[in-house]
Amino acid sequence: VWLRQGIKARRTRNEGRVKALEAMRAERAARRGQMGNVRLQVEQAEQSAKLVFEMKHVSKAFGEVRGGEVREVRGAEVRGEGGRGGACVVRDFSVRVMRGDRIGLIGSNGAGKTTLLRMLLGEVMPDQGDVRHGANVQVAYYDQQREQLDPERTVFDTVGEGNDTVTANGRTRHVHAYLRDFLFSGERARSPVKALSGGERNRLLLARLFTRPANVLILDEPTHDLDLETLDLLEEQLIEWPGTLLLVSHDRVFLDNVVTSTFVFEGDGRVQEFVGGYEDWVRQRQSRAPLQRGVSGGETAPLKGRPTNEAPLHPTSRAPLQRGRAPDPARKKLSYREQRELEALPPRIEAIESEQRALAERIAGADFYKESADAIKASLARVEELQCELTGAYARWDDLDSRR
Ligand SMILES: Nc1ncnc2c1ncn2[C@@H]1O[C@H](COP(=O)(O)OP(=O)(O)OP(=O)(O)O)[C@@H](O)[C@H]1O
Ligand SMILES: [Mg+2]
Repeated sequence: VWLRQGIKARRTRNEGRVKALEAMRAERAARRGQMGNVRLQVEQAEQSAKLVFEMKHVSKAFGEVRGGEVREVRGAEVRGEGGRGGACVVRDFSVRVMRGDRIGLIGSNGAGKTTLLRMLLGEVMPDQGDVRHGANVQVAYYDQQREQLDPERTVFDTVGEGNDTVTANGRTRHVHAYLRDFLFSGERARSPVKALSGGERNRLLLARLFTRPANVLILDEPTHDLDLETLDLLEEQLIEWPGTLLLVSHDRVFLDNVVTSTFVFEGDGRVQEFVGGYEDWVRQRQSRAPLQRGVSGGETAPLKGRPTNEAPLHPTSRAPLQRGRAPDPARKKLSYREQRELEALPPRIEAIESEQRALAERIAGADFYKESADAIKASLARVEELQCELTGAYARWDDLDSRR
């Protein structure tokens, strides 16, 4: 099959993209040198219990809505929850998140990453299954929708919450001094939130986030719309963060630098957990080594004879750190619809890759960073988006192809 034989070819083609990413990171580092010091320090709470979250056989579906239409609408309350039988975003997923776990979530747009996080937070109820929190779990949540900011409040009040001082990283400081670390001048600090740009809002959200005492950080696309220098510092901060971390990001380098295991949303409600980051996932997927289900019975044992997303982070026995999809006789045959989908995937993958190549060439070109900041940002965002789409498409292709 051409996709299989194409690994080497792909690697060559990917060099342009890698070069583009390297350029982006070099750019980040250079910019950062010129800027003030953003010090991101999360105020640490007391430790949580060892078991932070547990999900058992969790499933969630939404009504008949097409992703493209819904995504235009901000805020979940606007979109009605229809009946069952619609898109299944999570299907029979079980997992234990333990203290200190650093988990990345990857998957294409609309795959269900935010929904899974919100089920962990208790903001969305699963249709089936249980979600449990460990003792003393204190979450700081960075919301993708950014709906937590009051547009009428000033920057100062948003961070100070009525006080003149804030405590971050065990240090109590004046709000103005703290905000200066986040590149807000005294004047800017007095502006209402509604007067801020998207990037400034994100910086403000981070500033506020890091004053919250927390032992679990849940960040839903914090890298989106962030200034490059803040992005770099956020990365450093997260690397040092000793608590539990769940992170959604389409920036695979960022993700790989920060997380140690990954939930992959493969589409149609399938969520797999892999040890390692994005690159490890790609490698494991390519090698398709004999797969092992790292569970040894007990409460989270998969239901017999059903597709399962059983993905224990912490098998009780010391199994090799290699797992993924187990052969499942129930899922062998492709339906007519799946057959059609499979046929459509190679041209789609090719289209994505060809757009990637074109974009990578442009980005690697000498003139790229002479373009406007908005144009640069849009191109870089597109790089991430394409990569994510490609990941999803390959995962789907891999799955369907293996069942032919
Ligand atoms: N309250 C809701 N009512 C109806 N459908 C919803 C609701 N919330 C999410 N969905 C749908 O569920 C699917 C998963 O959405 P979710 O926001 O979890 O995806 P995501 O992986 O976070 O995507 P993105 O990468 O774009 O943020 C989408 O098709 C979305 O349209
Ligand atoms: Mg999301």
